[in-house]
Amino acid sequence: MGVPIAMGGFSFKCTLVTVARLIGVPGLLFSVGVTAALSQQPAASPSAVSAEWRDTSLPAERRADLALAAMSRAEKLQLVFGYFSTQAPWMISATKNFVAPDAGRVNSAGYVPGIERLGIPALWETDAGEGVATQRSPNPRERTALPSGLALAASWDRQNAFAGGAMIGNEARLSGFNVQLAGGVNLLREPRNGRNFEYAGEDPLLAGTIVGFEIQGIQSNHIISTLKHFAFNDQETNRGTIDVAIDETAARESDLLAFQIANEIGKPGSVMCSYNRVNGAAACENDWLLNQVLKADWRFKGYVMSDWGAVRSTVEAAKAGLDQESGWAFDASAYFGGALREALNYGHVDQSRLDDMACRILFAMFANGLFDNPILGDQSAQINFSAHASVTRSAAEDSIVLLKNDDLLPLKSSLKTIAVIGGHADKGVLSGGGSSQVYPIGGLAVPNEGPKDFPGPMVFYPSAPMKALQSRSSATITYADGNDLDAAAGLASRSDIAIVFATQWAAESLDLPNLDLPNGQDALIAAVAKANPRTIVVLETGGPVFMPWLSQVGAVLEAWYPGTSGGEAIARILSGEVDPSGHLPATFPASLSQLPRPQLDGDAKLDEDAHPSTNYNVEGAAVGYKWFDKRALTPLFPFGYGLSFTRFDLGGLSAEPAGEGIRVSLSVRNVGKVEGKAVVQAYVGRESGSWEAPKRLGSFDKVELAAGESKSITLDIDPLLLATFDPSSKKWLIEPGDYKVIVGQSATDVAASTTVHLDFRELEIGRH
Ligand code: BGC
Repeated sequence: MGVPIAMGGFSFKCTLVTVARLIGVPGLLFSVGVTAALSQQPAASPSAVSAEWRDTSLPAERRADLALAAMSRAEKLQLVFGYFSTQAPWMISATKNFVAPDAGRVNSAGYVPGIERLGIPALWETDAGEGVATQRSPNPRERTALPSGLALAASWDRQNAFAGGAMIGNEARLSGFNVQLAGGVNLLREPRNGRNFEYAGEDPLLAGTIVGFEIQGIQSNHIISTLKHFAFNDQETNRGTIDVAIDETAARESDLLAFQIANEIGKPGSVMCSYNRVNGAAACENDWLLNQVLKADWRFKGYVMSDWGAVRSTVEAAKAGLDQESGWAFDASAYFGGALREALNYGHVDQSRLDDMACRILFAMFANGLFDNPILGDQSAQINFSAHASVTRSAAEDSIVLLKNDDLLPLKSSLKTIAVIGGHADKGVLSGGGSSQVYPIGGLAVPNEGPKDFPGPMVFYPSAPMKALQSRSSATITYADGNDLDAAAGLASRSDIAIVFATQWAAESLDLPNLDLPNGQDALIAAVAKANPRTIVVLETGGPVFMPWLSQVGAVLEAWYPGTSGGEAIARILSGEVDPSGHLPATFPASLSQLPRPQLDGDAKLDEDAHPSTNYNVEGAAVGYKWFDKRALTPLFPFGYGLSFTRFDLGGLSAEPAGEGIRVSLSVRNVGKVEGKAVVQAYVGRESGSWEAPKRLGSFDKVELAAGESKSITLDIDPLLLATFDPSSKKWLIEPGDYKVIVGQSATDVAASTTVHLDFRELEIGRH
């Protein structure tokens, strides 16, 4: 919270202007008036500027206040308006005549000029959560890519997420960026969503925790990370126009809970509002989302930046809580450019609101060290790519999920011949497309694939699983590209074992038509498995897919998009050098008819004037496994599922009320012959009551165990997962009664369960 300070006879807390207005605290309301009065003073002249805000011993709030007080209105306006930093040919229209600013980083997402007079640094913005992206090739930045966001969530490993974030944040800083547009946490409500690979799955606790730790890692480099796309941007079809209907309780207990948890853990400097509408209002001019939920209830002190092209107005957006327009000239007009200046002149927007916008941006910059640890331009020569290759490889190893294994894996050393089929496994591994696209060192392993323009190209990273496997095996490994089914089946029949690599490319702006593997790969796998039942399938997909051939094959590994060292990671798991320890962060449905929306709402062919809508109240907060539980549906693979080359037993369960939640104690033992990592999950359920579904994930941990080793662990159930949101009192309420605690290694596994009685409790709406 801001510390009131004396400035020229006035006292104010700039970061609380919006909150004050909303919650109507008299003392804070006074501060609004004062801010407005102060801002009518002329800005201090350079000589009068004492630059007290440079004092690193002062809290960030106070430094922001001090810097703000020295700024002219024109300077504040400059800070709230960002530019695209790529010369996109389609933006050079007669009306926009866009020229990418020289001082931006070439082919990057964004740039906000600094204010030299006051020593306020520029903001150089880059995508995204997998690493430092490039907007347009040719000549992209070549950087390290983590496995996809969904893969990071499949690791169920907080340290892994932090380490990955710290690594990509380091590359961002050394590439000349101080804002990383990471932190995608939209829930996997729709398995066909083309951006699921950028997000962290279907469960609010898992997604919020993993993304929160990744943000912490990024920001440990003294740069800002975003948390995005706020909110309910859970499909790409009609993303700019679709109106999502969702009731407040369901909203708070699902997607918003993921954002709330990620915000608490990660403390991102900025939150990016999304393209879609929510309950009628565009997300970037949505008073409920921005002013009430984010800024008042969660006491978010940073700034809200728009997604690129997501602003629809000046006055409404400013009043609803948008603090910075991004990526001009994506928007139809320069809403926070000249139009905001006019709106201020005519009193349609209060000067205090502009102060609040600028102050929030300054706060995020001070809080994350942007003033004290300036970006020194392009220092990419200093990036330690070989160390970073190990970070991404180990992240991938932690995230790969073994879904089936009839004793084919790890590969036996007695194998003489191995057929590797399809997926360009002789050349590399796939990545997801769109603005998050990281280009690898060494260029594209498979050029000229996928669309030429956005969201293409289709990028394969030059980390070939086949090559990495060959270096670990004395068998003769032969490749077939899989285009000719007979040739592939023939090779498989002549080999001791066949490994089919199947890919599914997903990308921003496009949803998947269905969950089938594209380009006849299901038929390829069936033909190979028929020729040789000792067939292993390695999937490189953006999210869940169907597996009509499942009963015919001997083993399945879900490798997601495994990042720039993905081929090595896959080979190390296939060969048994590493035990697979990923668990699904999302339910794999058995059919589209099991989904809340068997058919996706909206239509990619609709024009901009159409008003498509989608009703999230169908499932409400019962997203993913919660929907499957509630409807007693059997998925192909449940949430939380994942095998290992060893086995873990859970036992000695006890649970008791502790603090506002429940403390669960148990022991986990590795009962197999190799070391491995168990993913222990604690679910909570109400015997009766008003929950959206029979149970919720309440806590989890990943535990490393040597063969035969046993450990005692405690899992604290987050009180929010025991509560229901009551919109009338604006409180989270824990109803009195019995709560079931179930521990297991997936959402359908019940290793042990017990009951805990809780008394009635009210929880604060936001915690800090
Ligand atoms: C995406 C954002 C991204 C921005 C800047 C938009 O198209 O939705 O996630 O950060 O572009 O590249």
